[in-house]
Amino acid sequence: MLEDANLTVGQVAKRCGVKVSTLHYYESIDLIRSWRNQGNQRRYKKEVIRRISVIKAAQKMGVSLESIKHAFANLPNNRTPTQEDWQHLANQWQAELVARIRYLEKLKNSLTGCIGCGCLSMKNCPIYNQDDHVAEEGDGAVFLERELNR
Ligand code: FES
Repeated sequence: MLEDANLTVGQVAKRCGVKVSTLHYYESIDLIRSWRNQGNQRRYKKEVIRRISVIKAAQKMGVSLESIKHAFANLPNNRTPTQEDWQHLANQWQAELVARIRYLEKLKNSLTGCIGCGCLSMKNCPIYNQDDHVAEEGDGAVFLERELNR
């Protein structure tokens, strides 16, 4: 079992499944904090594991580190965040996360048909995009972009 406020960078990296260099980077952009022991070695509080886990989960959803940093600004650095602190963060972040979820839903729902990309490789491309006529409207997957931006 890991000690409360005396975790080494190696212990945190192992438990969180990240590289030590990633922890150093997160620290360099003030996403996480450590303290130095008498041997001038980095030590972390256990709650840093939750922060890193939330960072990883958000990044998997495509949330930028800048946005994560903005959300984490709501968390206290001088004490372990409480349930209420995390709730406050969640409320702050709600709008962006919901928009991202909606975007992914639309993407999922759009992938079965013609997305107007010009490939003409799907069965219904000739119906919706004969001779790639949507290319006149713009580049990229015209139907998909239209759907995602609705
Ligand atoms: S999916 Fe590419 S043009 Fe229809």
